[in-house]
Amino acid sequence: MKLTQEQKAFVEDLLSRMTLDEKIGQMNQESPSIVGGFDVPFSELIEMMTDGRISQEEFGRIMSTAKQDFHEDDIRAGLVGSQMVNDPRQNNALQKIAVEESRLGIPLIIGFDVIHGFRSVFPIAIGEACSFDDALFEETAHMAAAESRAHGINWNFAPMIDAARDSRWGRVSEGPGEDPLLGSRFARAKIRGLQNDRSSALNYVAACTKHYVAYGACESGRDYNTTSMSVSNLYNVYLPAFRAAMEEGAATVMAAFNDLNGVPCTVNRWLLRDILKKEFGLDGFVVSDANAIRECVIHGIAEDDADAGVQAALAGMDMDMGTHIYKDCLKAAVEQGTVPMAVIDEAVRRILSVKVWLGLFENPYVPEELIEAYEKGLPAEHVALCRKAAEESVVLLKNEGNLLPIKRGQKISLVGKLAGDANEVCGAWAMAWKPEDCVSIQKGLEAAGAEVKYYPCGGPEGEIDFSEVDRAARDCDVIVAVVGETCAMSGEASSKADISLPGGQRAMLQALLASGKPVVTVLMNGRPLALGWEAENLPVILEAWHLGIRMGDAVASVLLGDVNPSGKLSSSFPSVTGQCPVYYNHPSTGRPGSKSKFTSRYLDAPWDSLFPFGHGLSYTTFAYDNLVVTENPDALEISVSLKNTGGREGTEVVQLYMQDVSASLVRPVKELKDYQRVTLAPGEEKTVSFTLPKAAMGFYDNAGQYRLENGLFRIFAGGSSRDCLMQEIRLAF
Ligand code: GLC
Repeated sequence: MKLTQEQKAFVEDLLSRMTLDEKIGQMNQESPSIVGGFDVPFSELIEMMTDGRISQEEFGRIMSTAKQDFHEDDIRAGLVGSQMVNDPRQNNALQKIAVEESRLGIPLIIGFDVIHGFRSVFPIAIGEACSFDDALFEETAHMAAAESRAHGINWNFAPMIDAARDSRWGRVSEGPGEDPLLGSRFARAKIRGLQNDRSSALNYVAACTKHYVAYGACESGRDYNTTSMSVSNLYNVYLPAFRAAMEEGAATVMAAFNDLNGVPCTVNRWLLRDILKKEFGLDGFVVSDANAIRECVIHGIAEDDADAGVQAALAGMDMDMGTHIYKDCLKAAVEQGTVPMAVIDEAVRRILSVKVWLGLFENPYVPEELIEAYEKGLPAEHVALCRKAAEESVVLLKNEGNLLPIKRGQKISLVGKLAGDANEVCGAWAMAWKPEDCVSIQKGLEAAGAEVKYYPCGGPEGEIDFSEVDRAARDCDVIVAVVGETCAMSGEASSKADISLPGGQRAMLQALLASGKPVVTVLMNGRPLALGWEAENLPVILEAWHLGIRMGDAVASVLLGDVNPSGKLSSSFPSVTGQCPVYYNHPSTGRPGSKSKFTSRYLDAPWDSLFPFGHGLSYTTFAYDNLVVTENPDALEISVSLKNTGGREGTEVVQLYMQDVSASLVRPVKELKDYQRVTLAPGEEKTVSFTLPKAAMGFYDNAGQYRLENGLFRIFAGGSSRDCLMQEIRLAF
């Protein structure tokens, strides 16, 4: 995010004319609060309903009578820098107050959680990442940016790029999986898609990479829990995606709720100032997560709100999301000298810079005709892109007997509540979809001309109707069982101690299997699940995540063979929950897991993942051969032959891994270094080439220093982290 000299001068001039109140106002983000019976921030009201302090009915009653306070008077007084609203006309009204009624006319930056699409919802990130398609990552982000701007949102709290290895954590659904390279490529593409099309002020938004940092390493997968790790682990696993996002020019960053090694990210000067702003070069600003400054008191690092506010400001936290602590406490802190004016000026300069870069001073409003266009319906190309993204995100985990694809004309019994519920296709963090845009798997199969009869039978919650299961199994050629999780079972505050199929779904599958009819299992879920029994007993498993508004079309296309699945897992799947965290890029240990007792293994479960990172089958088959590694002064030139040995065209994600076999710190047994999507006709063979810069073959040590060390390296190429060809090479850098 670069400003011109003229823009920089504009910012400095504006800053010089601002009062201290107005400066602190820019550091204050508001969200609508519910008034009339409950005067709490809207997010708090949601929490109260979520944790049962008020019933759904009570919540509904409040919402029906409550008015939302958008803090207009504070905006008019120049005391609000940002709002969090997703209604375009409401946003125009708030902007009008800020621009035309406040003393300096500084527009609001209006943020919202547009994590995987606004109204055109594409797959949850853990699913989209399975496409390994950087161009797609960018395209969907660009679509989200345009839809955001059309609704008055000019700041997306996205991409979420937290590396995560423990699927008990519900927020694995929001990010690009366990691998730092895939996460970095995902981050870069998302930043480009959100920010780079400046052909019109309506085509780009400010990105907000989150959650900085290591939130995905929360102990025991329990959300908001403490995180602790070595500096080398932080730099090698959790920081790479943020470094990549900064290199791509991300405008803003959101700090994470968790503490890291005892210091909450919200007040962590080392993370915010030394690494993010100085080492990584963030030009824009840092915003706290919701209520996170106040939570520093609960963390036990601050005596009270004022202390938390001072610590956050000094640590480099530029904007306060939702606590009013900056608004209420910072002025006194500046007047007492505990917070220098220079700290305030730096924060405000960063915030104003993003607003200028967004063009908000020239174009603060959404044109009415654009608002009306969306009220008429979604752009056809947006719907088509959602379908394409969904189709590329499906991963074929198992296809014994090639039961898939199903031939049209075969009688299908479609089983499972999730299959018929279009309200469950969008997954976590999708708040603006409309029912009329969403397609269930049932509707998708019907629209695709399949001969299908639907039997709900049961789902992730409630009882299973086994008499209906029996009926479903009777009159059909093949059963398609859709099982998994509701949207509410993943996302924020959705950690689970047991990630096997919830409810009675396994029993439902057992009953279906017992019928003797072929069973095709489709997973609709927001996280890797513990599928030991399923993988052992079910012939076919198709991972379909929560694919967004066109889920039904996409799953139907894959089931019926119109689309050949090409997805590869962005996260490892365990056999049982007790294996978590489980991931492919682990150190060897001195006793790598094996059949013998005294090795790194369990008595009661496999030691390795059930389905590894990078795994995914196709309706055709691919063969790898002839891996060749040659060294030139600055890079390794790597080539591998890939052949489509099956009967239909297919796309394979060819993956390149390396291992630093012996180094001054133990290194992972494999590290993803590159990947390419390759489409081949039946019988076609191609040499796939990679260039691996030697400079990319190092690692960070416990001083945060990058090290390239001479020695033996292994280079791998293949169709998953487990199935690879390998060559060794000794290097001296
Ligand atoms: C939430 C989430 C964060 C989101 C923010 C605003 O608590 O942690 O990802 O952007 O609040 O909704």
